[in-house]
Amino acid sequence: MDVKFEIIKKDVLGRVGHLKTKHGIIETPMILPVINPNNIVIPPEDMKNIGAEAIITNSYIIYSNQRLRDRAREEGLHRMLNFDRPIMTDSGSFQLSVYGDINVDNMEILQFQNEIGSDICVPLDIPTKPNERYDEAEKDVTITINRLREISNIKHIFKDNIIVAPIQGSTYRDLRRKNAIEASKLDFDLYAIGAIVPLLEEYRYDDIVDVVIASKLNIPLNKPVHLFGAGHPMGFAIFVLMGCDLFDSASYILYAMDKRYLTVNGTYKLSNLRYFQCNCPVCSKYTPEEVRGLENEDIVRLLAIHNLYESFTEIKRIKQSIMDGRLWELVQIRCASHPKLLNGLRRLVKYSNNLERYDVSSKSAFFYGGAESNRRTEVIRYRKKLRNMPIKMTPALITTIPSIEDIKDYKSVYYLKPPFGPYPLELSETYPLNFESPEILDKEMVRTALLNLIVFLNNDKNKGKDVTFEYDKRYRDPLIKKIKKMVDVRLINEI
Ligand code: GUN
Ligand code: ZN
Repeated sequence: MDVKFEIIKKDVLGRVGHLKTKHGIIETPMILPVINPNNIVIPPEDMKNIGAEAIITNSYIIYSNQRLRDRAREEGLHRMLNFDRPIMTDSGSFQLSVYGDINVDNMEILQFQNEIGSDICVPLDIPTKPNERYDEAEKDVTITINRLREISNIKHIFKDNIIVAPIQGSTYRDLRRKNAIEASKLDFDLYAIGAIVPLLEEYRYDDIVDVVIASKLNIPLNKPVHLFGAGHPMGFAIFVLMGCDLFDSASYILYAMDKRYLTVNGTYKLSNLRYFQCNCPVCSKYTPEEVRGLENEDIVRLLAIHNLYESFTEIKRIKQSIMDGRLWELVQIRCASHPKLLNGLRRLVKYSNNLERYDVSSKSAFFYGGAESNRRTEVIRYRKKLRNMPIKMTPALITTIPSIEDIKDYKSVYYLKPPFGPYPLELSETYPLNFESPEILDKEMVRTALLNLIVFLNNDKNKGKDVTFEYDKRYRDPLIKKIKKMVDVRLINEI
């Protein structure tokens, strides 16, 4: 099999990649706007100009409407929707989760997607609600896995089409893991994490992080990952950081129908807006007041167009951040804009040790941006390094304020700077020790640096060596007492 996904650049688990389809390459991360074939508000060809490299539609809606079904079979999906780029089709699973029942089976709907020329086909998975009873969720996961097995036997029929392997399992991490492992054994080209819409609706970003991480860490890293139904731009950055490559969303239109204006910082009601904070064609041409005065249909269309621009702009920002190795910083900015998103980030840094193992990106900068920076992969990795780093020459000085006079009595000098901790002065220009952090310290960064110092002093190579630690008053912390038991410590009066 040829490689369908090529990774161009990585940052933490995020990446910029190229996904090959019959109708061209999708550069990821990318959001695929949902087109409802029964109600097209923005024609797919216009979507292209706004930034859509691909769209998603629902094969079940087409299949259950005789007129649409016949047309799709006759003309093919791309002509029917007048879109010559990649089209993904969903299977009706979401309808199943909302209405409880649908009139089609797995093979039937998948073959229909193939027949009408879909580029990315989705089997009929079972989206189990959050906090469903464990045995129910387990039963549903078993069905989803069995359906994937059923398909993997006939994958050759689908030739160049990408078939998606959905990952379900409600809010149970072990079920997500199991679904991901079993699906991975069948070697699909794209994996999709499902049933997070109810979590998104309740802003349960911490639970979403658990679900995504449990799934993602059990999917081969060279395969692309889709996150079903995550369409609000404020979540894109953290989802990409966790390794999600594709999103689909009806949010742009659902929010517009509800007269809501999406921004990366949250959602505004059109009725409360005095200013449009954007320069897209809609926001440059109209004021909120002018839009409020239009016909309902125009209001919805204009808000939908803005919502799409905002979403694609965020995707571009995320891609540039990955190219620059600055995705963490963008995620911190986004997560600072809503406490529920901050819950997500705080849950995510609990997985720092896992993230560190996978973060192979080359970067050039580290800007400290608050408490969560202390758990960034670079800090975790540096701590691991300190476990083995020898102090070469003694007597050695570790100082929070290096000054020329102090240095002369010592054979080696280390600088202690939060959050990384001790490092040889000569490395201060090399990544990640060229990090930028505020001189006005906070408790957490001081603690992180002192903890790293303890790891350094305590490692097998350094125990008992002739070391002096001098610190200024900004570093007063209960951990100093612990360090006093290990080496000479003195308080200096500068700063
Ligand atoms: N759209 C939103 N959530 C889901 C899901 O879990 N499965 C599928 N197939 N589509 C979705
Ligand atoms: Zn706008």
